[in-house]
Amino acid sequence: MKIAVIGGDGTGPEVVAEGLKVLKAVAKKVGFDYTIKEFKVSGDRYLAAGGDPTRPTIPVIQDQEIAELRAFDAIYLGAVGHPKIAPGILEKGLLLRLRFELDQYINLRPVKLYPGVETPLKGKGPEDVDFVVVRENTEGIYTGMGGIQYKDTPQEVSTQINCTTRFGAQRAIRYAFEFCRRRNNPKHRLTLVHKTNVLTYVGDTWFRTFHEVGKEYPEIEKDYNHVDACCMWFVKNPEYYDVIVTDNIFGDIITDLAAVIQGGLGVAAGGNINPKGVSMYEPMGGSAPKYTGRNVINPMAAIGALAMLLRETGTNTGDTKLMDAGNRVEAAIMAVTPKMKSQAAGKMGFSTTQVGDLVAQAVAAG
Ligand code: IPM
Ligand code: MN
Repeated sequence: MKIAVIGGDGTGPEVVAEGLKVLKAVAKKVGFDYTIKEFKVSGDRYLAAGGDPTRPTIPVIQDQEIAELRAFDAIYLGAVGHPKIAPGILEKGLLLRLRFELDQYINLRPVKLYPGVETPLKGKGPEDVDFVVVRENTEGIYTGMGGIQYKDTPQEVSTQINCTTRFGAQRAIRYAFEFCRRRNNPKHRLTLVHKTNVLTYVGDTWFRTFHEVGKEYPEIEKDYNHVDACCMWFVKNPEYYDVIVTDNIFGDIITDLAAVIQGGLGVAAGGNINPKGVSMYEPMGGSAPKYTGRNVINPMAAIGALAMLLRETGTNTGDTKLMDAGNRVEAAIMAVTPKMKSQAAGKMGFSTTQVGDLVAQAVAAG
């Protein structure tokens, strides 16, 4: 397996290093070979190359680098974000660009409360918080369609178009049904989350497509929630959910709420997936500048992203060794979380590197 590594900014390289430590342990345990190549893409590099911090003046990632990334089996990303760079420049220049150009049309967010991890939900435990959000990742309001006219006048008008295609909704929905089938949770329930009562055009496309594709999955319950109600149920009855499929912006918002109920950004991981192309896996937390270089940041989310990278790459290529490796890493995470005092940076009872060591040891012992 060939893995491209983008450590990025701030604590990104530190947490990725712990993930790579665990990768080494699991490759030895299961018996597979891999190579890694580091890509030095970051906000720091953008500034060092003369990029303007207030507006995008040079590429954050080169065309040549993107072309090179296409030859890898997966991308492992730490964090890209810089306190001196205006919002949007790195997001559009790297993360969104890769999602679009590599056609990573799924954002996969497992929401699982690991043993011993604190949730702010009173009376809920690991048996209650265990579901998966499948977020459409290349359409909706993320396409950048729209614009501003009469800027800086009292007549200023701005529009941001929710570009929804039947094709885009269909492939996300199909992926979600297949995922739900594979997951095989006794609930066998796929919940479409949208806002069909107000977004009567784009919501209608999603709703009709959902029921059309759903005919091919008779064993799966077709369920629907409005996005606002879904937020309420996440807090009140998270145990209701099995798999959720939703559009880009709703998925963005509900997965931050979901991250909090699974114990916060220290543990939440996600994947930007093109099932037939190159996918990219990342911890949800940012570059955390104030914790950089102090060996206090929680690497669990990055290690969880590595588990996903292995399992999903294995699933998409039919490689059972990789699937096994991903499951072993997740089991090792679950063996270590109960030993930690907290999942918050600086409060874990261990340093960043110690947490990585503990997971690597649990993999070796497992
Ligand atoms: C996410 C992030 C991104 C998004 C930002 C950084 C552009 O919030 O991956 O959820 O909105 O998709
Ligand atoms: Mn987000």
